[in-house]
Amino acid sequence: MRDRICVITGASSGIGLETAKGLARRGVRLRLVGRNPERTEAAAKVVRSESRHGDVVAFRADFSSLSSVRELAEAILERDEPLHVLVNNAGVWHQQRRTSQDGYEDTFAVNHLAPFLLTHLLLPRMLATEGDRRVVHVSSRLHEQAGLSGPVGRAVYLMNVLGVPIRVPSPGLDLNALPMTRGYRGLEAYARSKLAQILFSNELARRLGPASVCSNAVHPGSVATNVARDSRLLSLGIRVAQPLLRSPAQGAATPLWVASAPELTGVTGKYFADAKERTPAPTAADPVKARELWELSARLVGLRPDDIAPAAREPSV
Ligand SMILES: NC(=O)c1ccc[n+]([C@@H]2O[C@H](COP(=O)([O-])OP(=O)(O)OC[C@H]3O[C@@H](n4cnc5c(N)ncnc54)[C@H](OP(=O)(O)O)[C@@H]3O)[C@@H](O)[C@H]2O)c1
Repeated sequence: MRDRICVITGASSGIGLETAKGLARRGVRLRLVGRNPERTEAAAKVVRSESRHGDVVAFRADFSSLSSVRELAEAILERDEPLHVLVNNAGVWHQQRRTSQDGYEDTFAVNHLAPFLLTHLLLPRMLATEGDRRVVHVSSRLHEQAGLSGPVGRAVYLMNVLGVPIRVPSPGLDLNALPMTRGYRGLEAYARSKLAQILFSNELARRLGPASVCSNAVHPGSVATNVARDSRLLSLGIRVAQPLLRSPAQGAATPLWVASAPELTGVTGKYFADAKERTPAPTAADPVKARELWELSARLVGLRPDDIAPAAREPSV
């Protein structure tokens, strides 16, 4: 894997940092993205020390800003090197509603719109790279409860976090209710952003087709990280439940596997958890919703049809 180059977002901590270390140990050259320069440089130093050749470069971007995502893509592309793997890992959970710099609900902006734009901007480089190329979307099993709110949603969430998988039919993603200006709930915003990631992953795979860049989504498990730092209650819950949760290194196992396993060469449009292929919620497998979300996202991030790599434009059917 020595000559492979991988971009990982949200690499300053948690699952992203551990995925970066795992890939570095396998000889992959890494481009780490974080929003805080000191934290990201510190992460790069650690990853470099675990890397076989030390080829690790840190980039800064705030995914709450689409112009920052565009600057990031420019900086990566300026390096004029191939790109084999993109791990869309950066993610947030906000207890209170926040607005991104572009005026969108911030969970949706950071978890879906930013990786949607970044993937499109880096895709031409990936398409021009030879060999095995992969986009990995770090989603969550919580996608299953997008649209479920109130006590039912919270109960399902708690059971899932505690490792008791229960699946309750959920309404899915309502594209007309994305701003959530009234009745914002952190869990609901997070769940639908994670559903959006899988819908995007599937639609990307469908448009690229087989024998191209592969696109797959993963659930890393319930992992003791800082992802819920915004909610005192959830952070406390994570501390209490820590013995039941995975460590960040254990949580990185599936993203790492999907980013690098030779046996997954050519596998695309799938969803994985516990290093196994899984069936996502029916709402994540809806091709009509996936296409509608793609079109809406392209408008929201300001992509024109010409900005979208030819292979990822609507394939003729
Ligand atoms: N932990 C779990 O149980 C779990 C379960 C399912 C899915 N996931 C997913 O796993 C991924 C990694 O999360 P984690 O659990 O490892 O949590 P984490 O340690 O908080 O990592 C999240 C990463 O995203 C970055 N990030 C957050 N907001 C950003 C922004 N506006 N711009 C750029 N980067 C930003 C963070 O940067 P900073 O260091 O600057 O904050 C950090 O590097 C997320 O997509 C999360 O949704 C986690």
